[in-house]
Amino acid sequence: MESTGISWLHKFQTSSCFFFVLSLLLLTISVALIFCKFLWFSRRRLLCRCHICDSYRTSSWANEFDNLCDWYTHLLKKSPSQTIHIHVLGNVITANPVVVEYMLKTRFNNYPKGKPFSMILGDFLGKGIFNVDGDWWMFQRKMASLELGSIAIRSHAYKTVTKEIETRLLPLLSAAAEDGKRILDLQDVFQRFSFDNICNFSFGVDPGCLESSMPISSFAESFNLATKLSAERALAITPLVWKMKRLLNVGSEKKLNDAIKVVKVLAKDVISQKRKLGFSNHQDLLSRFMACVNDDKFLVDIVISFILAGQDTMASALSAFFWLLGTHPETVSRIRSEAKEVMDGDQEFASFEQIRGLHYLHAVVYESLRLLPPIQFDSKFALKDDVLPDGTTVKEGTRVTYHPYAMARMDQIWGPDCMKFKPERWIENGKFCPPNAYKYPVFQAGSRVCLGKEMAIVEMKIVALSVLRKFDIMVVSPASGPRFSPGLTAIMKGGVKVLVKKKGDAPPLEEN
Ligand code: HEM
Repeated sequence: MESTGISWLHKFQTSSCFFFVLSLLLLTISVALIFCKFLWFSRRRLLCRCHICDSYRTSSWANEFDNLCDWYTHLLKKSPSQTIHIHVLGNVITANPVVVEYMLKTRFNNYPKGKPFSMILGDFLGKGIFNVDGDWWMFQRKMASLELGSIAIRSHAYKTVTKEIETRLLPLLSAAAEDGKRILDLQDVFQRFSFDNICNFSFGVDPGCLESSMPISSFAESFNLATKLSAERALAITPLVWKMKRLLNVGSEKKLNDAIKVVKVLAKDVISQKRKLGFSNHQDLLSRFMACVNDDKFLVDIVISFILAGQDTMASALSAFFWLLGTHPETVSRIRSEAKEVMDGDQEFASFEQIRGLHYLHAVVYESLRLLPPIQFDSKFALKDDVLPDGTTVKEGTRVTYHPYAMARMDQIWGPDCMKFKPERWIENGKFCPPNAYKYPVFQAGSRVCLGKEMAIVEMKIVALSVLRKFDIMVVSPASGPRFSPGLTAIMKGGVKVLVKKKGDAPPLEEN
């Protein structure tokens, strides 16, 4: 009896040991197979020897072009389909409006942001609108479009921006004009300006970054660092390196982790303060979201996405606007004459209605965004194999990018004068004529079009008018084209250096 028991136990031990070893073996084989598959696909990609991939890998494109975007533009201009494939990056890039419409509207469901994108920005943006697809996206989109479309929030945005202009931007420019010789970095000024603005608008909290006496707040500093380091992840040919660094919490990944922690702790503080003080009668966006969402972690994600949406894009748009006007004095004169026609001489700020009526200024804003779009390119990832309308085949998982910067430089879209800064191209019978959204996806287009588009344009017009009615902005050495730092938004290397003079004090500039 005893010996039967022992042999049963022995058999059981032997068989469970056998199953354990078998499971381990199967697991090892599966991992090895996945790794081999990864290596096989990566090898095919990484070892591509076509001249474009070689040029990318060795950075030889930089011998001829200042910016990667200029090189892509050159390749897209030469491509008969206006679409190219950078095999080494697994990236199909298009400047063809028909393809842009196809990916952003017709086959929207096949071109989500996708896992690779949400992996890169997930630590920073969490489940915020910028970083999600499907139901999470739909919920935030519906809620945000209701909020951002409301008259009350538009008037809140208008008040926020005029206050920042009146109390900080104009005094800062006045001080620079009085000094006469002080060179300002307008890009830095607009980064601080738009950070204050978007925090006031989104949180109802004023970080005071543009206050001349204040150093940049730790919130702004950490936010900018987190944006920069997250964007750098996207530049790697393979994500393995940053993932390894993240696992070990070393180098840039440690810095990123620390910066994200600061941003999230400060954002959480604001939310708890608001909850304590009561938020139901507040106008800011966060208070409005708090009325429907109870989860603080999710609220933090929502708010971070909104700051990202509204800070760098606005700073980049405004910097580019003044950079372009630096060589177009005739455009400045026309903006001033148009303003004179609709505003009283002693009126400090144009009203919301007056702003809407400034068609020429509207055209200048569109033209500067066309030539120097804040988001130069934007990618999606194909869910399933597909064929684009221009015949390009797209395999499941391929990155597909539309490229507003290159599109602005295509003769096929804008005619032979596409490289010229020409606001008149937008005016017909004295009125602004809106573009076809897929020829001009500066704010994206289709189902995921930018929710802040109207607000952004009104804000640019208010800033432009307030500054140009009082000051001449002289860009220092504007002759060479801008060079951009790699990142999610177009930031000019070295900033935008300007001299500020009271209107009429500056020597006349030559038209470019
Ligand atoms: C000139 C300034 C701006 C430009 C050029 C711009 C451009 C864009 C672009 C290209 C996208 C699509 C990004 C993507 O899906 O990857 C986008 C999305 C978005 N933008 Fe803007 N934007 C600007 C200003 C703003 C402002 C001021 C706000 C808010 C206050 C805002 C709110 C949003 C939001 C919430 C989305 C996400 C929409 C969605 O995924 O459904 N944007 N914007």
